[in-house]
Amino acid sequence: MTSKFAVILAAGQGTRMKSKLYKVLHPVCGKAMVEHVLTQIEQIKMDEIVTVIGHGAELVKERLVNRTDYAYQEEQLGTGHAVLQAEKLLKNKDGLTLIVCGDTPLFTAQTFTELFAYHEQKGAAATVLTAEAPNPFGYGRIVRNNLGIVEKIVEQKDASETEKKISEVNTGVYCFNNRDLFSALHLIKNDNVQGEYYLTDVMEILKKSGKVVAAYKMKNFDESMGVNDRIALAKANKLMRQRINEEHMRNGVTLVDPQTTYIDIDVKIGKDTVIEPGVVLKGETIIGEDCFIGAHSEICDTQIASNVKVTASFLEDAIMEKGSNIGPYSHLRPAAHVGENVHIGNFVEIKKAEIGKNTKVGHLTYVGDATLGEEINVGCGTVFVNYDGINKHHTNVGDYSFIGSGSNLIAPLNIADHAYVAAGSTITNNVDSHDMAIARGRQVNKKGYFDRYPVAKAAEISQKNTNKK
Ligand code: UD1
Ligand code: CA
Repeated sequence: MTSKFAVILAAGQGTRMKSKLYKVLHPVCGKAMVEHVLTQIEQIKMDEIVTVIGHGAELVKERLVNRTDYAYQEEQLGTGHAVLQAEKLLKNKDGLTLIVCGDTPLFTAQTFTELFAYHEQKGAAATVLTAEAPNPFGYGRIVRNNLGIVEKIVEQKDASETEKKISEVNTGVYCFNNRDLFSALHLIKNDNVQGEYYLTDVMEILKKSGKVVAAYKMKNFDESMGVNDRIALAKANKLMRQRINEEHMRNGVTLVDPQTTYIDIDVKIGKDTVIEPGVVLKGETIIGEDCFIGAHSEICDTQIASNVKVTASFLEDAIMEKGSNIGPYSHLRPAAHVGENVHIGNFVEIKKAEIGKNTKVGHLTYVGDATLGEEINVGCGTVFVNYDGINKHHTNVGDYSFIGSGSNLIAPLNIADHAYVAAGSTITNNVDSHDMAIARGRQVNKKGYFDRYPVAKAAEISQKNTNKK
């Protein structure tokens, strides 16, 4: 088997992005552009993958960790100079080298495989992957002679008027005979408009030295798009989103309106789940089968089992077990664990809390730092008072207990199973099993008070004002 190597170019700042974040780290559907590239390359068996880093090197490394080796490009002197930095790791090796830019997030492993096959079939020293661009502005152009054979690649800024009319562009992906690549790289010069060492010049150098240089034209231009500014970034996101959404629909997920459904690349969704418009599913979210995710819900890094219903709610870093439901307008914060068949109603916030099977938290309630058992009813407007201004404290509520509406449960607190808290209570002491706790002022009714101050007084003033008019 021929050895295969890959080089990812990711050292540029990305000036045209006008961003503090290095270009290749800008996310497309939840994953940095350069990570998309690496993930696709990993689908092919490679003997070595080298990523050339420079601007934001540490941050790129943090993202790609040990999935690749690294070559450091101190000064960004051009794409040719960038590849040369990988020489220490790759030179004197026999095999084929795939080069991909870190700012082309839509390429698929399938296309890379086709490029390798074409390259080998042509017996070429270098094969550039090209595409027919509807608007070629900004891309390097493929100059072919009258026999259709590739002569060279000219950059936009160096192109003559005739060359600018060429619509076949360089996608920035190449396959090289590894030894030919590194010997030619030493010959490139920077005598061009940008004063850079262009990788693209290697094609002409190899051609002139009598080697076979080929071009493989891919059918789908969209897949090759390079992201240089925020307009292209939005477009890449849209194309990736479409690809992701179609994949889910093919797998049996209903997206009521795919145009307005935003699903990150690593999200997993089970069959027969229905996703309504305006839903955003982010990060490592996993959703089971037969779920309903209602309009305008946002779910991030959350695990949802099957038969779960989420209505217009915001979930982050949480878990919902099967048959549970939430919303509208509720919020699961990190480490909220909603048990089987639990009902969480509207305007409820849950943070770092376990809610046992069949328990109901219906309305306007805050549950933080708590463990709730099974079959509990938490009344409307209950507050788990977990914070004393310095520390957070825990509350336990046992199975089958009943928490009356408008209660404040001041942690640390243990409410046993089969216990009862009367509505409107502020509970500071533990409650034992089968007991009821009631902690509120007793009601006093004042006879005839309505006719006295201040209601009567207000009526008097309003009467005076009417008389004045
Ligand atoms: C490049 C190609 C162009 C092609 C286009 C496809 C060259 C000279 N031009 O142009 O023919 O049509 O890609 O998208 O190769 N980089 C480095 N170090 C450097 C310079 C760049 O690592 O010194 C990296 C960048 O981080 C980026 C990639 O190389 O990921 C491409 O650089 P960029 O400046 O975007 O090249 P383009 O102008 O798009
Ligand atoms: Ca680019």
